[in-house]
Amino acid sequence: MEITLNHKAQAIANGKTECLVVFLPSEKDKQSRRGLEQLPKAAGHIVDQVLKLNDFSGKSGQMELVFSEAPGIPRILLIGLGTKSDVDLEGLRRAGGKIGKKLHEMKISKLAISPPDFLKRSIKSERGTALIEGIVLGAYQFKTYKSKKSDQGSESVSITCYDPKKLTGLKAMQLGKLRGDSANFARTLGNTPASDLTPKKLSEHAKDIAKEHNMSVKVLEEEEMAKLGMEMLLGVSKGSREPAKLIIMEYSHKKAEKTVAFVGKGITFDSGGISLKPGKGMDEMKFDMCGAAAVLGAMKAIGTLRPKLNVIGVIPSSENLPDGQAQRPGDIVKSYAGKRVEILNTDAEGRLILGDALTYIAKKFKPDAMIDLATLTGACVVALGNYASGAITNNEALCDRVVAAGKSSGDRIWPLPNFPEYEESLKGKYGDLQNIGGPSAGAITAGLFLKNFVEDVPWVHLDIAGTAWDVKGIDYFSNSGATGVGVRLLIDLVNQWNS
Ligand code: BES
Ligand code: MN
Ligand code: ZN
Repeated sequence: MEITLNHKAQAIANGKTECLVVFLPSEKDKQSRRGLEQLPKAAGHIVDQVLKLNDFSGKSGQMELVFSEAPGIPRILLIGLGTKSDVDLEGLRRAGGKIGKKLHEMKISKLAISPPDFLKRSIKSERGTALIEGIVLGAYQFKTYKSKKSDQGSESVSITCYDPKKLTGLKAMQLGKLRGDSANFARTLGNTPASDLTPKKLSEHAKDIAKEHNMSVKVLEEEEMAKLGMEMLLGVSKGSREPAKLIIMEYSHKKAEKTVAFVGKGITFDSGGISLKPGKGMDEMKFDMCGAAAVLGAMKAIGTLRPKLNVIGVIPSSENLPDGQAQRPGDIVKSYAGKRVEILNTDAEGRLILGDALTYIAKKFKPDAMIDLATLTGACVVALGNYASGAITNNEALCDRVVAAGKSSGDRIWPLPNFPEYEESLKGKYGDLQNIGGPSAGAITAGLFLKNFVEDVPWVHLDIAGTAWDVKGIDYFSNSGATGVGVRLLIDLVNQWNS
């Protein structure tokens, strides 16, 4: 669905829309139910009538579509936001998500909204950003492989924000659309089957983004990686006919004082390799490149926003398949960092490709910070479920920044302990390290494995295995498919860096 945005510093008049969205606080916040007076009289009257019936309490998440006789406003969509103290930007995003989904049921091409005015003072023009971000995310559908275009709502909707008090503006709204579109781009990459999204395809996306936004991009091919001695990364791709890639994008700003690197796991399909996964649910392992998708989505947005910071986007990418050339359990490989790693389980492959990529970036660029995002462990899903990504760090201050960006963006982060005792289980029997720890604390030991490869660069690892797809009960996500987790987080991290 194509969404276009308009902003008008005036109240809505009759005859201007096919559906008017009215945000309402909960009944407990009766005095903030003023503000309705700026609606055209007939529409305001209808809303008054609904409120008198008392079955629309305005609690957060409530939504009701009312068909109306108000002149030129045939539909009114009532959205409850809860009390003034409850509603935050995430609440607005979720309200937007509900609207976005509803757009597919209504055959309309014009929607009118007014920014709610009863919010706490701390919420300023970003209310427009959050609402539009939510709408754009909520309206997302993945239909690439559906032959029949089902008879659903309009292909394009223009949203006009009627805002006489200038509570927000077109720029803020456009930022919301950029954030939503960038996350949706990542979602489509995640949802695309592995046959159509190979490491090569990921590198082409990176090149497209780099070209569009004047960034430089370099793709290391297997030959070059072999020369550099990246056996850890190359070992994973041995069992696949698709060549591995190490994709490096560089956004730079003339006045930048710092450089950060985002590194995303790009396993385009994870069968487990010789340590083959069970059949049930293996289809989901097309999502094993959602870290890479987050990096690409964020780089796309960064290219438009042009922040005063240098940003390196990095994607080690490979398939993990079990053919006759495949890496075997028991094999020992030499990492780019020089450490020898015993492969005890070929299904613990993400840490292998990430490890070599992290060392390469640390040595070559010496960035001020590295953040990696990876669908790394099932153990993280057991520990945290679907509503927080796990974090492991070697630098508390950097981790605090990431957690803060998690709070503001809605891509929530929960730090995991990094006590040195956890690292014991990673010591190798024949090599320096082994690629799996013991049976317990799998999300932590996976993160701490990576710590061996970041040199001294401040670093945060984010395990997004639980948050990258099939997240239920959040209004701006679909209940199934990729979420684009990480994109909005990284955008906020970059924005908050200089402020
Ligand atoms: N991509 C998987 C992690 C994963 C599993 C994500 C399930 C989402 C859902 C990763 O490559 C993997 O297979 N990890 C193993 C590690 C184990 C062999 C130590 C896992 O979690 O089972
Ligand atoms: Mn695996
Ligand atoms: Zn994997």
